[in-house]
Amino acid sequence: MSQLSVDHLLGIKGLTREDIELIFSTADNFKGVINRPIKKVPSLRDITIANLFFENSTRTRLSFELAEKRLSADVVNFSASSSSVTKGETLVDTVKNILAMKVDMVVMRHPNPGAGVFLSKHIDATILNAGDGAHEHPTQALLDTYSIREKFGTVEGKKVVIVGDILHSRVALSNIYALQLLGAEVMVCGPSTLLPKFIHTLGVKVETNLRKALEWADVANMLRVQHERQDIKYFPSIREYTNMYGVDMELLNSLESDVTILHPGPINRGVEITSEVADSDKALILDQVENGVAVRMAVLYLLASKIKRE
Ligand code: CP
Repeated sequence: MSQLSVDHLLGIKGLTREDIELIFSTADNFKGVINRPIKKVPSLRDITIANLFFENSTRTRLSFELAEKRLSADVVNFSASSSSVTKGETLVDTVKNILAMKVDMVVMRHPNPGAGVFLSKHIDATILNAGDGAHEHPTQALLDTYSIREKFGTVEGKKVVIVGDILHSRVALSNIYALQLLGAEVMVCGPSTLLPKFIHTLGVKVETNLRKALEWADVANMLRVQHERQDIKYFPSIREYTNMYGVDMELLNSLESDVTILHPGPINRGVEITSEVADSDKALILDQVENGVAVRMAVLYLLASKIKRE
Protein backbone atom coordinates (compact mmCIF):
# COMPACT_ATOMS: atom_id res chain seq x y z
CA MET A 1 0.00 0.00 0.00
CA SER A 2 1.23 3.55 -0.75
CA GLN A 3 2.08 5.63 2.30
CA LEU A 4 2.43 9.31 3.13
CA SER A 5 6.01 10.59 3.47
CA VAL A 6 5.11 12.23 6.83
CA ASP A 7 3.97 10.93 10.25
CA HIS A 8 2.06 14.13 11.16
CA LEU A 9 0.13 16.71 9.12
CA LEU A 10 1.70 19.91 10.43
CA GLY A 11 1.44 21.92 7.21
CA ILE A 12 1.41 21.58 3.42
CA LYS A 13 5.08 22.55 3.57
CA GLY A 14 6.79 19.21 4.05
CA LEU A 15 4.35 17.27 1.86
CA THR A 16 5.21 16.04 -1.64
CA ARG A 17 3.01 16.14 -4.73
CA GLU A 18 2.73 12.34 -4.41
CA ASP A 19 1.41 12.78 -0.84
CA ILE A 20 -1.34 15.13 -2.04
CA GLU A 21 -2.24 12.85 -4.96
CA LEU A 22 -2.46 9.89 -2.54
CA ILE A 23 -4.72 11.93 -0.22
CA PHE A 24 -6.94 12.87 -3.20
CA SER A 25 -7.28 9.32 -4.53
CA THR A 26 -8.08 8.08 -1.01
CA ALA A 27 -10.60 10.93 -0.60
CA ASP A 28 -12.28 9.87 -3.88
CA ASN A 29 -13.06 6.51 -2.25
CA PHE A 30 -14.31 8.10 0.97
CA LYS A 31 -16.50 10.54 -0.97
CA GLY A 32 -18.25 7.44 -2.32
CA VAL A 33 -18.64 6.15 1.24
CA ILE A 34 -20.20 9.35 2.67
CA ASN A 35 -22.74 9.45 -0.14
CA ARG A 36 -23.97 5.90 0.57
CA PRO A 37 -27.01 5.20 2.80
CA ILE A 38 -24.58 3.57 5.31
CA LYS A 39 -21.86 6.20 5.66
CA LYS A 40 -19.58 4.37 8.08
CA VAL A 41 -16.54 2.11 7.58
CA PRO A 42 -14.62 0.28 10.35
CA SER A 43 -11.12 1.51 9.27
CA LEU A 44 -10.19 3.33 12.55
CA ARG A 45 -12.07 1.07 14.99
CA ASP A 46 -9.00 0.71 17.28
CA ILE A 47 -7.97 4.39 17.17
CA THR A 48 -8.80 7.11 19.71
CA ILE A 49 -8.67 10.73 18.54
CA ALA A 50 -8.74 13.93 20.62
CA ASN A 51 -9.96 17.11 18.94
CA LEU A 52 -8.31 20.02 20.79
CA PHE A 53 -9.69 23.42 19.85
CA PHE A 54 -7.97 26.38 21.52
CA GLU A 55 -9.68 28.74 19.03
CA ASN A 56 -13.24 28.88 17.69
CA SER A 57 -14.28 26.77 14.72
CA THR A 58 -17.46 25.50 13.09
CA ARG A 59 -16.51 23.81 9.80
CA THR A 60 -13.14 22.32 10.72
CA ARG A 61 -14.20 20.98 14.12
CA LEU A 62 -17.45 19.40 12.88
CA SER A 63 -15.80 18.12 9.72
CA PHE A 64 -12.96 16.39 11.62
CA GLU A 65 -15.41 14.94 14.14
CA LEU A 66 -17.69 13.59 11.40
CA ALA A 67 -14.70 12.22 9.46
CA GLU A 68 -13.48 10.41 12.60
CA LYS A 69 -16.94 8.99 13.37
CA ARG A 70 -17.45 7.88 9.73
CA LEU A 71 -14.17 5.94 10.15
CA SER A 72 -15.44 4.40 13.46
CA ALA A 73 -12.74 6.02 15.64
CA ASP A 74 -13.38 6.76 19.32
CA VAL A 75 -13.55 10.55 19.63
CA VAL A 76 -13.10 12.99 22.51
CA ASN A 77 -13.58 16.73 22.14
CA PHE A 78 -11.83 19.47 24.08
CA SER A 79 -12.60 23.17 23.98
CA ALA A 80 -10.08 25.46 25.69
CA SER A 81 -12.70 27.92 26.95
CA SER A 82 -14.32 25.25 29.17
CA SER A 83 -11.07 23.53 30.26
CA SER A 84 -8.34 23.87 32.89
CA VAL A 85 -6.37 25.99 30.39
CA THR A 86 -8.38 28.85 31.90
CA LYS A 87 -6.66 27.97 35.25
CA GLY A 88 -3.21 28.32 33.68
CA GLU A 89 -2.42 24.75 32.57
CA THR A 90 0.18 24.69 29.75
CA LEU A 91 -0.35 23.22 26.29
CA VAL A 92 2.10 20.35 26.90
CA ASP A 93 0.60 19.49 30.31
CA THR A 94 -2.92 19.63 28.87
CA VAL A 95 -2.04 17.31 26.01
CA LYS A 96 0.07 14.92 28.15
CA ASN A 97 -2.91 14.48 30.48
CA ILE A 98 -5.19 13.75 27.54
CA LEU A 99 -2.67 11.28 26.09
CA ALA A 100 -2.42 9.50 29.47
CA MET A 101 -6.00 8.44 28.68
CA LYS A 102 -4.51 6.45 25.73
CA VAL A 103 -5.20 8.78 22.81
CA ASP A 104 -3.50 7.91 19.48
CA MET A 105 -4.07 11.04 17.39
CA VAL A 106 -4.52 14.73 18.20
CA VAL A 107 -6.30 17.23 15.93
CA MET A 108 -5.41 20.70 17.15
CA ARG A 109 -6.40 24.26 16.33
CA HIS A 110 -4.35 26.85 18.18
CA PRO A 111 -3.91 30.63 17.88
CA ASN A 112 -0.09 30.38 17.98
CA PRO A 113 1.84 29.71 14.74
CA GLY A 114 3.95 26.56 15.11
CA ALA A 115 1.87 25.09 17.96
CA GLY A 116 1.54 21.75 16.12
CA VAL A 117 5.28 21.52 15.38
CA PHE A 118 6.04 22.31 19.06
CA LEU A 119 3.63 19.63 20.25
CA SER A 120 5.01 17.00 17.86
CA LYS A 121 8.42 17.40 19.55
CA HIS A 122 7.01 16.86 23.05
CA ILE A 123 4.42 14.11 22.79
CA ASP A 124 4.19 10.64 21.30
CA ALA A 125 1.02 10.88 19.20
CA THR A 126 0.12 11.72 15.62
CA ILE A 127 -0.64 15.45 15.27
CA LEU A 128 -2.95 17.01 12.68
CA ASN A 129 -2.84 20.80 12.42
CA ALA A 130 -6.39 22.19 12.15
CA GLY A 131 -5.06 25.77 11.84
CA ASP A 132 -2.21 27.42 13.77
CA GLY A 133 -2.55 31.20 14.00
CA ALA A 134 -1.72 32.94 10.72
CA HIS A 135 0.64 30.10 9.73
CA GLU A 136 -0.99 27.05 8.04
CA HIS A 137 -4.37 25.35 7.65
CA PRO A 138 -3.37 22.27 5.66
CA THR A 139 -6.69 20.41 5.49
CA GLN A 140 -8.39 23.59 4.23
CA ALA A 141 -5.87 23.84 1.37
CA LEU A 142 -6.34 20.13 0.62
CA LEU A 143 -10.12 20.46 0.41
CA ASP A 144 -9.83 23.67 -1.66
CA THR A 145 -7.48 22.07 -4.20
CA TYR A 146 -9.53 18.85 -4.18
CA SER A 147 -12.62 20.95 -5.05
CA ILE A 148 -10.72 22.62 -7.94
CA ARG A 149 -9.62 19.18 -9.19
CA GLU A 150 -13.22 17.93 -8.94
CA LYS A 151 -14.55 20.87 -10.98
CA PHE A 152 -11.83 21.04 -13.66
CA GLY A 153 -10.47 17.48 -13.67
CA THR A 154 -7.00 18.76 -12.73
CA VAL A 155 -5.26 21.52 -10.74
CA GLU A 156 -2.23 21.50 -13.09
CA GLY A 157 -2.10 24.67 -15.19
CA LYS A 158 -5.10 26.33 -13.53
CA LYS A 159 -4.81 30.03 -12.66
CA VAL A 160 -5.90 30.66 -9.08
CA VAL A 161 -6.06 34.08 -7.43
CA ILE A 162 -6.30 34.32 -3.64
CA VAL A 163 -8.07 37.58 -2.78
CA GLY A 164 -8.10 39.67 0.39
CA ASP A 165 -6.41 39.47 3.75
CA ILE A 166 -3.29 37.52 2.76
CA LEU A 167 -1.30 38.96 5.70
CA HIS A 168 -3.35 37.25 8.42
CA SER A 169 -4.36 34.15 6.47
CA ARG A 170 -3.23 30.58 7.18
CA VAL A 171 -5.56 29.52 4.36
CA ALA A 172 -3.56 31.65 1.90
CA LEU A 173 -0.16 30.22 2.83
CA SER A 174 -1.32 26.59 2.78
CA ASN A 175 -3.16 27.15 -0.52
CA ILE A 176 -0.08 28.73 -2.12
CA TYR A 177 2.04 25.69 -1.18
CA ALA A 178 -0.60 23.14 -2.27
CA LEU A 179 -1.45 24.86 -5.56
CA GLN A 180 2.22 25.21 -6.50
CA LEU A 181 2.94 21.55 -5.65
CA LEU A 182 0.07 20.55 -7.96
CA GLY A 183 1.28 22.76 -10.84
CA ALA A 184 -1.21 25.65 -10.67
CA GLU A 185 -0.27 29.29 -11.31
CA VAL A 186 -0.94 31.39 -8.19
CA MET A 187 -1.68 35.09 -7.79
CA VAL A 188 -2.50 37.03 -4.65
CA CYS A 189 -4.64 40.17 -4.77
CA GLY A 190 -5.53 42.63 -2.06
CA PRO A 191 -4.72 46.03 -0.63
CA SER A 192 -0.94 46.41 -0.31
CA THR A 193 -1.38 46.77 3.48
CA LEU A 194 -2.77 43.21 3.60
CA LEU A 195 0.03 41.67 1.51
CA PRO A 196 3.02 40.44 3.57
CA LYS A 197 6.40 42.02 2.74
CA PHE A 198 7.89 38.55 1.99
CA ILE A 199 5.14 37.66 -0.54
CA HIS A 200 7.50 37.86 -3.58
CA THR A 201 9.69 35.13 -2.07
CA LEU A 202 6.78 32.66 -2.43
CA GLY A 203 6.88 32.69 -6.24
CA VAL A 204 3.37 34.10 -6.69
CA LYS A 205 2.10 36.90 -8.93
CA VAL A 206 0.97 39.99 -7.02
CA GLU A 207 -1.88 42.26 -8.16
CA THR A 208 -3.68 45.04 -6.31
CA ASN A 209 -6.39 45.56 -8.97
CA LEU A 210 -9.24 43.05 -8.48
CA ARG A 211 -10.66 43.33 -12.03
CA LYS A 212 -7.24 42.60 -13.56
CA ALA A 213 -6.81 39.64 -11.19
CA LEU A 214 -10.23 38.20 -12.10
CA GLU A 215 -9.62 38.72 -15.85
CA TRP A 216 -6.50 36.50 -15.41
CA ALA A 217 -8.00 33.80 -13.17
CA ASP A 218 -9.93 30.55 -13.60
CA VAL A 219 -10.61 30.42 -9.84
CA ALA A 220 -10.82 33.11 -7.16
CA ASN A 221 -10.46 32.05 -3.53
CA MET A 222 -12.10 34.90 -1.59
CA LEU A 223 -10.66 35.17 1.91
CA ARG A 224 -12.51 36.46 4.91
CA VAL A 225 -11.39 39.77 6.37
CA GLN A 226 -10.05 38.63 9.76
CA HIS A 227 -11.11 41.44 12.07
CA GLU A 228 -10.03 39.39 15.11
CA ARG A 229 -6.38 39.29 13.95
CA GLN A 230 -6.20 42.99 13.01
CA ASP A 231 -4.79 45.05 15.85
CA ILE A 232 -4.49 48.17 13.66
CA LYS A 233 -6.54 49.47 10.70
CA TYR A 234 -5.28 48.08 7.35
CA PHE A 235 -7.90 49.86 5.19
CA PRO A 236 -10.06 52.94 5.73
CA SER A 237 -13.44 51.21 6.16
CA ILE A 238 -15.33 48.01 5.36
CA ARG A 239 -17.29 49.92 2.69
CA GLU A 240 -14.02 51.00 1.04
CA TYR A 241 -12.70 47.40 1.18
CA THR A 242 -15.90 46.04 -0.39
CA ASN A 243 -15.84 48.68 -3.14
CA MET A 244 -12.31 47.69 -4.13
CA TYR A 245 -12.06 43.97 -3.28
CA GLY A 246 -15.63 42.69 -2.96
CA VAL A 247 -17.08 40.46 -5.70
CA ASP A 248 -20.69 40.82 -6.85
CA MET A 249 -22.64 39.30 -9.78
CA GLU A 250 -22.29 42.45 -11.88
CA LEU A 251 -18.50 42.19 -11.71
CA LEU A 252 -18.48 38.43 -12.43
CA ASN A 253 -20.89 38.82 -15.39
CA SER A 254 -18.78 41.62 -16.88
CA LEU A 255 -15.67 39.37 -17.17
CA GLU A 256 -14.74 37.81 -20.50
CA SER A 257 -14.62 34.28 -19.08
CA ASP A 258 -16.13 32.42 -16.15
CA VAL A 259 -14.40 32.58 -12.76
CA THR A 260 -15.19 29.91 -10.17
CA ILE A 261 -15.51 31.25 -6.62
CA LEU A 262 -14.13 29.50 -3.52
CA HIS A 263 -14.50 30.75 0.06
CA PRO A 264 -13.13 28.92 3.12
CA GLY A 265 -15.86 30.33 5.40
CA PRO A 266 -17.11 31.82 7.56
CA ILE A 267 -18.40 34.32 4.96
CA ASN A 268 -18.85 38.00 5.77
CA ARG A 269 -21.82 38.26 3.38
CA GLY A 270 -21.78 41.59 1.55
CA VAL A 271 -18.10 42.23 2.39
CA GLU A 272 -15.81 39.91 0.38
CA ILE A 273 -18.68 38.42 -1.69
CA THR A 274 -22.39 39.23 -1.98
CA SER A 275 -25.06 36.71 -0.97
CA GLU A 276 -26.02 36.42 -4.65
CA VAL A 277 -22.49 35.24 -5.51
CA ALA A 278 -22.20 32.98 -2.46
CA ASP A 279 -25.46 31.22 -3.30
CA SER A 280 -24.89 31.05 -7.08
CA ASP A 281 -23.67 28.13 -9.19
CA LYS A 282 -20.40 30.03 -9.72
CA ALA A 283 -19.49 29.29 -6.08
CA LEU A 284 -18.20 25.92 -4.82
CA ILE A 285 -18.58 26.85 -1.15
CA LEU A 286 -20.81 23.96 -0.04
CA ASP A 287 -18.89 21.51 -2.27
CA GLN A 288 -15.78 22.59 -0.34
CA VAL A 289 -17.53 21.76 2.93
CA GLU A 290 -18.71 18.36 1.66
CA ASN A 291 -15.26 17.57 0.28
CA GLY A 292 -13.71 18.57 3.62
CA VAL A 293 -15.16 15.46 5.29
CA ALA A 294 -13.82 13.11 2.58
CA VAL A 295 -10.39 14.78 2.54
CA ARG A 296 -10.11 14.66 6.35
CA MET A 297 -11.17 10.99 6.34
CA ALA A 298 -8.36 10.36 3.84
CA VAL A 299 -5.72 12.17 5.92
CA LEU A 300 -6.81 10.47 9.16
CA TYR A 301 -6.87 7.05 7.49
CA LEU A 302 -3.43 7.46 5.87
CA LEU A 303 -1.78 8.81 9.04
CA ALA A 304 -3.40 6.15 11.25
CA SER A 305 -1.98 3.46 8.98
CA LYS A 306 1.51 4.69 9.98
CA ILE A 307 0.96 4.35 13.73
CA LYS A 308 3.27 1.65 15.07
CA ARG A 309 1.54 -0.88 17.30
CA GLU A 310 3.42 -2.47 20.26
N1 CP B 1 -12.64 27.33 7.15
C1 CP B 1 -12.52 27.24 8.49
O1 CP B 1 -11.43 26.98 9.03
O2 CP B 1 -13.67 27.49 9.16
P1 CP B 1 -13.85 27.32 10.75
O3 CP B 1 -13.03 28.42 11.40
O4 CP B 1 -15.33 27.45 10.99
O5 CP B 1 -13.30 25.98 11.12
